[in-house]
Parts: sequence; C-alpha cells; structure tokens
Amino acid sequence: MVLLGNILVLIDTVLLFSSKEFGMITPENYQKWFATEPVRNQFNFTGADYIVKWAHKNGQAVRGHNFVWHSQLPDWLNNGTWDKKTLNSIMVNHIVKMGSHFRGKLYAWDVVNEPYNDDGTWRSTIWHDIIGPEFISTALTTAHAVDPFAKLYINDYNVEGVNAKSDAHYNLAKSLLKKHVPYHGFGIQGHLVVAQLPKDIPQNIARFAGLGLEVAITELDIRMDLPNNAKNATLQANDYKTVVNACVDNRACVGITVWETSDDYSWIPGVFPTQGDALLFDTNKDPKPAYYAVADALKAAKVKSHFNSWP
Ligand SMILES: *[C@@H]1O[C@H](CO)[C@@H](O)[C@H](O)[C@H]1NC(C)=O
Ligand SMILES: *[C@@H]1O[C@H](CO)[C@@H](O)[C@H](O)[C@H]1NC(C)=O
Ligand SMILES: *[C@@H]1O[C@H](CO)[C@@H](O)[C@H](O)[C@H]1NC(C)=O
Repeated sequence: MVLLGNILVLIDTVLLFSSKEFGMITPENYQKWFATEPVRNQFNFTGADYIVKWAHKNGQAVRGHNFVWHSQLPDWLNNGTWDKKTLNSIMVNHIVKMGSHFRGKLYAWDVVNEPYNDDGTWRSTIWHDIIGPEFISTALTTAHAVDPFAKLYINDYNVEGVNAKSDAHYNLAKSLLKKHVPYHGFGIQGHLVVAQLPKDIPQNIARFAGLGLEVAITELDIRMDLPNNAKNATLQANDYKTVVNACVDNRACVGITVWETSDDYSWIPGVFPTQGDALLFDTNKDPKPAYYAVADALKAAKVKSHFNSWP
C-alpha cells in the first residue's frame, strides 16, 4: 500500500461520505479493547472486519486504533488485580491476536494511546503503574513482530505545539529510536478549539520529522461555543487551513484524519456540553466553510493528495 501525500479520514459514521471524500478510515470504536476482547482471550473482530473490508473495497487505507490505552477497557481488565507478569502477558496476547488478525491489512496502528499527562509526567494507568514505562517498548516490539507491514504510532492529544507534553513524547521518541525499538510515527490528535491554535505546530512537526519519524494528524476537530455564528465559522475555516498547511508543508506529515465527519455525529457535546460544530460538514451533511478551506489548502499544496472531490 503506497500513501502519496495527504489523506483525510472518515471515522465510523456515515460511511457513504467516506469513499468520495476520504482516502483513509479509522474504525472509531470497533478496534478498542472493550469491543475486541470483551472477555479475556475471546476476541470479537466483527465490527472492525466490517470497516476494514469496506475500506479496502473502496480503495481506502486503514489506520488501526488502538492497542494500549487506559480508557474504554473491558471491566474484566479494568477491575482485575494484576501482577506485572500477568498484565504484561495480557497486553502481549491482545497485541498478538489483534495484530495477526489484521496483519498486512492496515496502513498503521496506534500502538500506544495517550501515555502522558499534560505536564509531561507519566499518566497513571494500569499499564504504566503495574508494568512500568517499558510497556511502551514491549508493545511496539510485539506489534512489529506480528505485523511488520504496519507503521507503528504513539498517539496523543494536546501535543500539537511545542509544550511539556510534546516534549515528553519527543524525549521518549529519541530514547526509543536510540534503542532501535520499532517506532515509526507520532500521532498528533488535533482536538482543537477555534481561535486557540498553538502557533508552533509546524515547528513541532519538524522536530519529530527531524528524528526520522513520520507524523500524522490523527483525530482533527476544531470545536466552538454553541450556537455557532458566521464569524466563528470563518475563524474555524482558517484554523482548519492552518492545520492542513502545517501538515502538507512537511514531507514527513503523511495524513490528516478528522474525528468524525458531520456535526450531528461527534463525541464533543457528550464531553463539552456547550461546544460542538467542530467538523467539516454540518448537521444536514452539507459542506461548511471549513470543508472548502481544507479542499483549497490541499489543492494548493505541492504534495499529491487523496482528497480529490472539491467542487
Ligand atoms: C461482536 O461485535 C459485534 C459488533 O460490535 C456485535 O454486534 C456482536 O454482538 C459481538 N458478538 C459477541 C459474541 O459479543
Ligand atoms: C467494574 O468497575 C466499574 C467501575 O469502574 C463498575 O461499574 C463495574 O460494576 C465493575 N464490574 C465488575 C464486574 O466488577
Ligand atoms: C464565537 O463567537 C461568540 C460571539 O461572537 C463568542 O462569544 C465566542 O467566544 C466565539 N468563540 C468560540 C470559540 O466559539
């Protein structure tokens, strides 16, 4: 599978948008632990298989999401009392079963998701607290052994600009690469707020690229206070353009994924009740100013893009 330039991704909902507008898909919930291993060592690939098959039928790449995260774990795992050896074997088994099931079918895997707090300290999770920070290299090494074709990512939020959290990722990357751990890509989620973008997104992308990693914007949405107004919709369009330009201006940035597609299907109102309207299409599935800004930015970019249906 060859990826040329930049790819926008549809997540999970409204699959019909997907083949027309997007060159890559991330299964939103279907590959998470609660969905794939709801009972210890009993795997359910039904939902993820559906998405992967659908993507391949439509010529789309798939970003796998995810192996090791602290959230959306099944109760048996979350509530268990584990010693280090047992939890490590549970993690390895999950990656081996999942990774080999999807071997060769995915462009990339988010192997580790959200390992740090915003201040750059380790997040307290079962993985970190019981196994120790080496859960990261174990996860990457295991994933690479079972699917040597997939690009292996570590993915996080609030790491768009240079800050304490992205510094922690940068130092982790340096240390993993020095030890020849198979680590290929830094995933910048991109859950952003209108008119509050960090100014140094290009510099941040450049420093990870400088380590030899690829970079992807993996979960982009740019939310605003509701109700929306025309002024903020224009600011949002500019912000989308800024993020797209930050990616297409660096050859190491291989993809831009939006976290869902139209404003009626979004995780945001559930978590930020006064905010929303963060996506490219409105609740009627009509393209917003943000959509045209993304299309124009991709069209103007020197790199080849899979986003090819602007008016
Ligand atoms: C497997 O996952 C699918 C899709 O989410 C779900 O509909 C089905 O009930 C699951 N099967 C089992 C045995 O849990
Ligand atoms: C597991 O813990 C959650 C709270 O985190 C609780 O709601 C649930 O009932 C527990 N399940 C079991 C099987 O103990
Ligand atoms: C949007 O517009 C209103 C009114 O102009 C403003 O109060 C609000 O804070 C703006 N910003 C965002 C991010 O929604």
